[in-house]
Amino acid sequence: MPRSPLRSPRPSIDLSKHLMLMRGYSQHPAAEETLADIPTQLCSEVLFGNDAPLELEIGSGKGLFLKTASETTPEHNFLGIEIVHKYAKHTAARLSKAQRENARIISGDAGPLVADRIPDGSLEAVHVYFPDPWWKKRHRKRRVVNESSVQNFLRKLRPGGRFHFWTDVLDYFESTVEMIAAVTPEFGVPIPEQKKQSTHDLDYRTHFERRSRQNQIPVYRVRYEKRG
Ligand SMILES: C[S@@+](CC[C@H](N)C(=O)[O-])C[C@H]1O[C@@H](n2cnc3c(N)ncnc32)[C@H](O)[C@@H]1O
Repeated sequence: MPRSPLRSPRPSIDLSKHLMLMRGYSQHPAAEETLADIPTQLCSEVLFGNDAPLELEIGSGKGLFLKTASETTPEHNFLGIEIVHKYAKHTAARLSKAQRENARIISGDAGPLVADRIPDGSLEAVHVYFPDPWWKKRHRKRRVVNESSVQNFLRKLRPGGRFHFWTDVLDYFESTVEMIAAVTPEFGVPIPEQKKQSTHDLDYRTHFERRSRQNQIPVYRVRYEKRG
């Protein structure tokens, strides 16, 4: 999908409190030695030094969701995982400039991080907005919402925890709803989420939501709540 060009954050911006790096992962430049390593346990206590509920976003892009949600819900912590390093860095710079104490981002691949480092039953919510569709059938297994990831989301969420999934790709939406009913029935019925009227230019959940609305592309929005 075409993306708008992204400027690198000014070197004077301190990213060390907001950006963590999955080392050994090929997409990051070798020079990022000053960044924090990823802790073995990704939980509120280790990441933020408190026990506030932790919400996870996978594929944060330019970080609008993390920046807005960490402001509107200051009693929760927010962790983003973004595989493209320059986007993770851009998001970290936004969070740093906004002085967010309750949001951080990891530059790395969500698959293994969610599976191996997030304690079971610990998450308040998982957010996946406008994941890359991987149109070709042989590439479908690269989708971040797939049979194995939804089982991980279910395992990592606390009872009552939420999984939000929005996309503008009808096939991705329909096949995911069908797959969740078959693979993770503990998620219960899909709950439709409503489009909110925006009151200013950045009043959208994510940049891709803004882009879809501006181009009048329909968006399919759903939430699941893990049964207790
Ligand atoms: C189409 S963009 C949507 C960005 C943002 N959620 C939005 O709605 O504006 C999908 C994002 O997911 C990221 N992504 C893809 N695979 C990922 C993975 N395995 N782990 C983390 N991020 C991933 C991409 O780099 C990209 O930034």
